[in-house]
Amino acid sequence: MSPAFEGSSPPAGTLFCGGCGARVTLDAPAPFRCPRAIAGDDIDHVLEFPPAMTSVPTDGDEQPFVRYRALLQSHQFALARGMSDEGFVELVRELDNAVAGVAGVGLRITPYVKSAPLAAELGLERGEVWVKDETGNPAGSHKLRHLFGIALHLVVAERIGLPTRPGPLAIASCGNAALAAAVVARALDRPLDVYVPESADARVLAELASLGARVVTCAREPDAPPGDPCLRRLRAAAADGAVPFTVQGSENGLAIEGGKTLGWELASQHAAGSGPRLDRIAIQVGGGALASACTRALLEACVSGLLQPLILVHAVQTASVHPLERAWRKLEEGVARRLGSHAASQAGLTPRARMRAAADELAHARTHRSDFMWPWEETPRSIATGILDDETYDWRAVCQAMFNVGGSPVVAPEATLARAEERARALTGIDVDATGAAGLAGLFVLQSEGKLAPDERIALLFTGVRR
Ligand SMILES: Cc1ncc(COP(=O)(O)O)c(C=O)c1O
Ligand SMILES: [Zn+2]
Repeated sequence: MSPAFEGSSPPAGTLFCGGCGARVTLDAPAPFRCPRAIAGDDIDHVLEFPPAMTSVPTDGDEQPFVRYRALLQSHQFALARGMSDEGFVELVRELDNAVAGVAGVGLRITPYVKSAPLAAELGLERGEVWVKDETGNPAGSHKLRHLFGIALHLVVAERIGLPTRPGPLAIASCGNAALAAAVVARALDRPLDVYVPESADARVLAELASLGARVVTCAREPDAPPGDPCLRRLRAAAADGAVPFTVQGSENGLAIEGGKTLGWELASQHAAGSGPRLDRIAIQVGGGALASACTRALLEACVSGLLQPLILVHAVQTASVHPLERAWRKLEEGVARRLGSHAASQAGLTPRARMRAAADELAHARTHRSDFMWPWEETPRSIATGILDDETYDWRAVCQAMFNVGGSPVVAPEATLARAEERARALTGIDVDATGAAGLAGLFVLQSEGKLAPDERIALLFTGVRR
């Protein structure tokens, strides 16, 4: 938890920058990015909400933003500004109906299914593997959850008469997030600019065009500064007045909250189907918003008593690009230095001493970002195209979650990603793509290292449909 949240109970709709402590409220005209963020200051500016303090409900409406509204800052903020609960629900339904009008389906609680064949494939004789199936969402992935959350803020702000940015919506993405943004932008009847790399899939580009989005291709120029050219263009557009309608927490902290609905759902479905014990979860990580959102939600579910704590979290990246894993190694080196010994000889240390050192190192990282996170040097290539981000923008939140409970990043080789995609489809019948099945690839790696116990209960997210 950021120190800014400790010991105080901020007013509804308050975000804090986890890097510099700046405070922003939802009634600001652009409460998306830290107002103090300036290029090159090496502070890890990412706006975050304080943790939800309300218990995670275990049932209710089939629309996640209705079911979990009491945990949403947009709801608390709307109520604090005079909107009724019914009025908020009505807004969610209007937005959801508009999404369904574009995509054919609205956002609904997604299936969570136990797969005995996957458990057998992973050698879990007495264990369980559960799969959260996000492939049936509007636009075919979990990404719409993040963008629905931002859109809800925009419509709440409009309804209660706050000044909002009139500029176009803008996103940097090559695939699932762009499609989800195009659906929601259409539902909102607002223009959307999509900044895509040269490698973007032609079918996705055609679909974006048919949804009315304006596509801008961003080449990697040899003499340009390192980092994703699409993100650079997005930042420039946002500086010119566009709304960063994008799924990197560093560019729009509001993106994280909608993603948490996935974690809240998973927690209550797991508790209902398997009980409170969940031993491990593997999450595919690109920019890191998904893992940041899910781990925050799982923590809240543990505090609510739905799940037992100590869920090992594994962030799964490809062998082609793994900046989060690289940052993790840097953090571990820093922790070892603080403990006055080398990483190899830490077996005898108390978990408490290690936690303290990890907390200190993560606090140091807030103001020394480039010691841990910088753009990947080579142009990444993999079948898991959705997780090829040059940087893990939400890296600190994900590392924090892994340090809290002893998880770790996993790097999956290309052949393992291909096997996971094939096995996922064959063994579950879910038409998931390689990115969406990358968590399973991470589990195959852990299995080959002898790290899975035969009685474990494991959760996976199948996040995107094959196109
Ligand atoms: C299907 C799918 N799963 C997972 C991810 C990773 O999400 P994040 O970039 O938030 O880490 C993406 C990102 O594009 C995706 O498309
Ligand atoms: Zn900041």
